[in-house]
Amino acid sequence: MATIESVNILLAEIFNERSLISAILSNPRKTQPLQKINVRPILIKDEPFYQFTEFRDNQALHSNLKADECIKNLQEHLPDFKQLMLYTNATDYQILISKKQSVTILKKPSSKCPLALSHNRKKEYLLADNKPIPFLVELGVMSPEGKIHAQKMDKFRQINRFLEMVDDILPDLNKDKPIHIVDFGCGKSYLTFALYYYLKVMKGLKLTLTGLDLKKDVIDKCNQLAKKLCYSDLSFSVGDINQHQEKRHVDMVISLHACDTATDAALEKAVRWESEVILCVPCCQHELFGQVKNEALEPLLKHGILKERFAALATDAARAQLLEALGYRVQVLEFIDMEHTPKNLLLRAVRNKKQNINQDALKKYFEFKKSLNIDHSLERRFAKDFE
Ligand SMILES: C[S@@+](CC[C@H](N)C(=O)[O-])C[C@H]1O[C@@H](n2cnc3c(N)ncnc32)[C@H](O)[C@@H]1O
Repeated sequence: MATIESVNILLAEIFNERSLISAILSNPRKTQPLQKINVRPILIKDEPFYQFTEFRDNQALHSNLKADECIKNLQEHLPDFKQLMLYTNATDYQILISKKQSVTILKKPSSKCPLALSHNRKKEYLLADNKPIPFLVELGVMSPEGKIHAQKMDKFRQINRFLEMVDDILPDLNKDKPIHIVDFGCGKSYLTFALYYYLKVMKGLKLTLTGLDLKKDVIDKCNQLAKKLCYSDLSFSVGDINQHQEKRHVDMVISLHACDTATDAALEKAVRWESEVILCVPCCQHELFGQVKNEALEPLLKHGILKERFAALATDAARAQLLEALGYRVQVLEFIDMEHTPKNLLLRAVRNKKQNINQDALKKYFEFKKSLNIDHSLERRFAKDFE
């Protein structure tokens, strides 16, 4: 049986030879914030570095380290994990670390191709950026030859980022029957068309998608485009979220940049329909701005701009907490870099199998509410359920 010292020797050899393709430290021994570490070699200004990525609390934190720092960090974390995979040019090593720190090293011929080392690898988008995609051409994001128009590059990135976030929750959807999705406040529907194209055309899933918006002219255009593209299971209706009814079970509700408390109307519908997944990017959250009060926060709240940002964050925190109280697992994710838009937070909620009111989460919400003197529109919508 090998020991941790054998792993240290192997690490030194691999890093000396610069034969590492990637390393993955996974399977934490206990529940801990650090879930995984990935390492890959990179070149920065032609100098060899290792990109060291820690996956903590659903975030990926990158640092670029020299070989010796990288080895030291891996060694430090080794006892907290059950497995280290080392992919090298010649061999794949699977290293299993027992509770008592004895080590098993299994070897196989290399299964991976060496990576291009440039630090800024070309971003692989889910939607190709070099071949024509009919809906992107029609919406003016791409030329008929498949080139993204320079002024639409942010839109293209946003669409892809959204699809990545959808991709992550696909295992949470029951695909034995057609999936039904509702997009509240779909507007011009770039993301609605993208979702349909990705799930139906690219992934071949059975689904129906309905977009809803208040604006008749916009909805008419969306229906015309869906018809032109022969997207037969994509349709759009004019209506207000608050009054909207669906005849069949809704598996996923999306609501992207719906104005102010329209987001809460969308969330209420989603929860009451027991939608498995909710994706929502709130927008222009004004409601709490006039309410939020807390003497200890006076240094922050006395500045209009800070108060506005704080109130918007508090609004989203309240929404996330209330969704948790209503039986969902919730993540708050960065939708798109701040440099592109300040409306950049996405709430991703997946319904728990047993959807009861989570009293602990609700209690925390009420403490939060009390400390900020707020009365949130989503809370009012569920006041009776919380009694
Ligand atoms: C900023 S646009 C976002 C469009 C699209 N979802 C996106 O992210 O690109 C917000 C849309 O929400 C619609 N909206 C706002 N309140 C609504 C409501 N109560 N019912 C239906 N649509 C609503 C507006 O008409 C507008 O088209």
